[in-house]
Amino acid sequence: MNDLSTSFSEKRACQIRDLVIRFKEEVTSADAIAQADPLDLDGVFQQLPQWNEQHNREATSRALKRAVASIPQRTGSDFVLCSAAIRDLSILGASLMRFEVEPALCVPGFDEALQFLAVQVESPIPRDSFVDYTCRNPTGERERTFTSVSEEKIFINSLRQGMLAMDACLLHVLEGCSLSFADPQCAASFHAAGSSFQTMIDGMVQVKRKITPEVFTHEIRPFFEPFSVAKQARSAPSGAETPILNVDQILWGADCTDEIYLTYFQANIMRLPAIYREISQVFVGQPSLMTQIKARLASGKAFSQEEYGSLRELHHLLTRIYMFRMPHYKVAEENVLLRQREQGEDQHMAGSSGFGLAEIKYVLDQTIACRGITSQALARCTAR
Ligand code: HEM
Repeated sequence: MNDLSTSFSEKRACQIRDLVIRFKEEVTSADAIAQADPLDLDGVFQQLPQWNEQHNREATSRALKRAVASIPQRTGSDFVLCSAAIRDLSILGASLMRFEVEPALCVPGFDEALQFLAVQVESPIPRDSFVDYTCRNPTGERERTFTSVSEEKIFINSLRQGMLAMDACLLHVLEGCSLSFADPQCAASFHAAGSSFQTMIDGMVQVKRKITPEVFTHEIRPFFEPFSVAKQARSAPSGAETPILNVDQILWGADCTDEIYLTYFQANIMRLPAIYREISQVFVGQPSLMTQIKARLASGKAFSQEEYGSLRELHHLLTRIYMFRMPHYKVAEENVLLRQREQGEDQHMAGSSGFGLAEIKYVLDQTIACRGITSQALARCTAR
């Protein structure tokens, strides 16, 4: 669309408005899931950090056997109860995997239970994902942690706040996209998106300051290994499976054909709850916002004062994403370097999702390139 009179077509704008309503419901359901303890495991999770510290696989495996045996009686097909059960079974399974014990091999019915639960919640992945470890993880005494190191609580809290911030950011970006680019409300939505994203930067600063690469690599990271379900390795939760995927897609990814991006996007969007996947369907293959801005720049047509407002806020949002991604890349790199020093330089170090520095660097570079485009457009406005 050459004149940016609406950022996306009217039909798509209606679809987006409907999805925004459903998206708000999804955010509320995360609270209900966090409250739920369908398998009566709150007491077990009080003890799990201690069992893990003592390498007490037997206690974890007994608790997991009891929990698995109570499915489906305790969950039925209820979305909230099944989602909470996926979270809890997966944390216990990941604790066993930490000590190289495949949960499916020592707990009868583990595969079937996770597969059953995944079908009930319409998830293509029969294990937990980032949202389970963060927003669907209760706070306070009931919080599920693998360890008793204070850094894990800081880690979960930063990720949880980051996830909430990304949800809010996505919501505002969607609102902005359902309006005309020249509508002052569009600029206001992009402004709100940028402000929401600030929490991601704050979370990253906290983690960088308070969690050393040694604590992360030795104490926390080992609980994020894949385990098998029905003989297929299923990877652990990772920051890659967050709504930042949707935000990137709208800003620059919808029509991107780079192999590295397509592989990364498809593997990770699958692991987000259904509503995020549905939102992504509306944009896939459509011209991204950056493509629209580039086309407008190429046309030589001047931007109006109102369009300038929307561009400026979009530029601020990209600046904030950059301010998160730059230190995040450094933190991830420090952790990779530590693991390489300890395990061998030639080892390929992937994150918990199986992706690594190449993908983090790629999305950082895309963010920098997008800021280049908005800068160019803003310079054109000032020159006008
Ligand atoms: C010790 C701290 C951290 C390390 C070592 C780390 C490492 C990684 C790695 C290796 C990836 C690649 C995907 C994968 O996991 O396989 C990744 C992705 C990601 N992580 Fe982290 N991370 C850390 C903290 C955080 C925090 C605190 C946040 C949010 C507040 C966060 C948000 C993300 C996001 C959004 C991605 C996707 C890539 C992007 O969009 O830039 N991470 N991280």
